[in-house]
Amino acid sequence: RPIKIGVEVPEEQSGQKVKIGIYFATWWALNVVFNIYNKKVLNAFPYPWLTSTLSLACGSLMMLVSWVTGLAEAPKTDLDFWKTLFPVALAHTIGHVAATVSMSKVAVSFTHIIKSSEPAFSVLVSSLFLGEAFPLPVYLSLLPIIGGCALAAVTELNFNMIGFMGAMISNLAFVFRNIFSKKGMKGKSVSGMNYYACLSMMSLLIVTPFAIAVEGPQMWAAGWQNAVSQIGPNFVWWVVAQSVFYHLYNQVSYMSLDQISPLTFSVGNTMKRISVIVASIIIFQNPIKPVNALGAAIAILGTFIYSQAKQSGS
Ligand code: 3PG
Repeated sequence: RPIKIGVEVPEEQSGQKVKIGIYFATWWALNVVFNIYNKKVLNAFPYPWLTSTLSLACGSLMMLVSWVTGLAEAPKTDLDFWKTLFPVALAHTIGHVAATVSMSKVAVSFTHIIKSSEPAFSVLVSSLFLGEAFPLPVYLSLLPIIGGCALAAVTELNFNMIGFMGAMISNLAFVFRNIFSKKGMKGKSVSGMNYYACLSMMSLLIVTPFAIAVEGPQMWAAGWQNAVSQIGPNFVWWVVAQSVFYHLYNQVSYMSLDQISPLTFSVGNTMKRISVIVASIIIFQNPIKPVNALGAAIAILGTFIYSQAKQSGS
């Protein structure tokens, strides 16, 4: 049954609450697995343009097969739908590649600490480019977000400028993606799952020529041989895992976006980052100084204050 994106179902309905809880838990779990395999792949095979492309290709293929076999009902779309999807796909592509480039240069935890400041970017873009005004508490809540991220960044032991800028560009791109997404989906009846499928396909078309131009088959072939000689033939399954889990976590996140408000979504997304930060620090045993952790905690707390301030102001 197609559900319109952006329609908020009253959350007090108890069955609905359980459903959202299951979506959130699944989204976070899938995201943790994606982040772990993505980083394992990037450590052995540092070609973020190719791994980003493979994630989108895998998702596109999974959805095409689902439509052809009738596992999922194909959406009914027109030219207008694809036209309005283009800016969303462009922003999704930039945000995805930038985050992957970032994670190829720095610890996963660092990328996600910087990415937890996405709400601050949302307020800045809305105020500067869309002329929106927010209540004072919303602006004040940006101070701990920006200050906490800055503290975490300057005390990061493995700081790298490309890693930092990649996460910042990803923040900016995803804010635009969310704004265009909302505009593009207004009044359209495409389910969250199919909307994300179409988004993957268009992003794949956008990214492929750039991936070939920036990295290209020669680099990939040499890098692949090197990775397989280090890891063994199982390396291919790491790549498959990062690609499949990338699609699944995004699909579930778009399915939950169908059911909740964008604000609840952004709070869920920040909570997701806490699980990723903790899991990746444990698994990759990244060295972390207490002041670094304090910066991350302040930034994440700032996001919760932001969501409270925004909710009471709207
Ligand atoms: C990506 O590769 O696109 C990023 O890891 C996505 O970041 P997200 O956590 O904002 O979905």
